[in-house]
Amino acid sequence: MNNTQAFINENKERFLDELMELLRVPSISADSSFSQDVQKCAEMLSENLKEIGLTNVEVFPTDGHPIVYGEKIENPSWPTVLVYGHYDVQPADPLELWDSNPFNPVIKKTELHPQGAIFARGACDDKGQMFMHVKAVEAMISSGELTCNVKFMIEGEEEVGSENLSVFVKEQKELLNADIILVSDTGMLANDVPSITTGLRGLSYVEVELTGPNRDLHSGLYGGCVANPINILCDMISKLQNEDLAVTIPGFYDRVENLSEKERSEMGQAPFSKEDYCKSIDIENVHGEKGFTTMERGSIRPSLDVNGIWGGYTGEGAKTVIPSKAYAKISMRLVPNQDPEEITNLFTQYFSSLAPEGVKVKVTPHHGGEPAVTPVDSIGYLAASEAYEKSFGKKPIPVRSGGSIPIVAMFEKELGLKTVLMGFGLDSDAIHSPNEHYGVFNFFKGIETIPYFFESFSKLSN
Ligand code: BES
Ligand code: MN
Ligand code: MN
Repeated sequence: MNNTQAFINENKERFLDELMELLRVPSISADSSFSQDVQKCAEMLSENLKEIGLTNVEVFPTDGHPIVYGEKIENPSWPTVLVYGHYDVQPADPLELWDSNPFNPVIKKTELHPQGAIFARGACDDKGQMFMHVKAVEAMISSGELTCNVKFMIEGEEEVGSENLSVFVKEQKELLNADIILVSDTGMLANDVPSITTGLRGLSYVEVELTGPNRDLHSGLYGGCVANPINILCDMISKLQNEDLAVTIPGFYDRVENLSEKERSEMGQAPFSKEDYCKSIDIENVHGEKGFTTMERGSIRPSLDVNGIWGGYTGEGAKTVIPSKAYAKISMRLVPNQDPEEITNLFTQYFSSLAPEGVKVKVTPHHGGEPAVTPVDSIGYLAASEAYEKSFGKKPIPVRSGGSIPIVAMFEKELGLKTVLMGFGLDSDAIHSPNEHYGVFNFFKGIETIPYFFESFSKLSN
């Protein structure tokens, strides 16, 4: 391993420059006006995979954005690691809230990143984290210290639901044959508190439309006499949670796995400061389901949030009107063993039942995803744990995350493979937000830790 780590040390600057190049491409998957850039990013990445010595490198077209594939099969008796990541990014707006251009990366120091952080859309989610694997594998190949076969599958549609990747995975089971899936697309507790993500929440996402009168009405002539869809929508939304902030949808918690007191107390060992948490997002206090800690609310408990709400007049000045329509987008984060489809159905039934006469309700489901867990006694987890211990000098803490990567449950279902989530981001890195950034320390620490994973995984696999 010494040669690998030496190679990393000698090439740090170039690794960073190459990442900057990728970050300059606005590969926004949600906005079709950026399709050319998404394609360009896929091609740049595939060039890089060729340069580091991978074979069978291919940009697979899909009905949406392409999937980049490449492999290094050195020895059929070695275990195979399938690295998954995404090169697409979230839209950068609102642009005016960025301190620098989201697609012109700059390095600046922050309180939590005294060695500097790269500010750009996708810096942490997920170009910076995905690229750590490319460079770690380059280092292992160059130093002749690769101990596992490796396959890369980097998609361009993670931020829009990975629909075409699902098709690809089902069609390419042989190509994707491996022993473990390795992903860096999550976070860790702090730069001096390494942790490994052992769970992801699932997702059910719906859009609701309420229709009242067949046209916008004069709010003087009709006010007080007909149901106003915005008033009604607010009322219906408020009924989705009770005073204990538990979700009221009948059956919502039926399949939720209840953790034992022992498991909960173990979870409670992870360092967490409510003061720092509140301070970092400028709120006076936390808010959530009664009977659970903030850590629990955001990981082992499901949640329901309105993501957007609109309707009526929002222009300048006043327009006295009762709108005909009101809309909202609502997400529900799910935990094992909740089923996104079932939850969407339960939501639709209950939400519709809340509407009074005089308004019509339409619920449209969007893409969802199943939750996932990585057992801490699996070879994959143990190898990751050893790797962190080597590079951080500390045993990592297992932590369940609140975020979702729906494809992880799909990998298990379709390929029969577990995923190890070696994330190096911090919650404060502002992913999906203005001024997203990724620590330079984190980028290099990831590149340094990944080869240790390969080393341990090959040993533990025998
Ligand atoms: N990388 C994130 C998910 C994530 C971030 C998990 C941090 C854990 C910690 C991923 O790119 C993402 O944003 N996922 C979406 C779901 C998707 C269906 C749009 C999410 O969680 O909202
Ligand atoms: Mn991501
Ligand atoms: Mn994301």
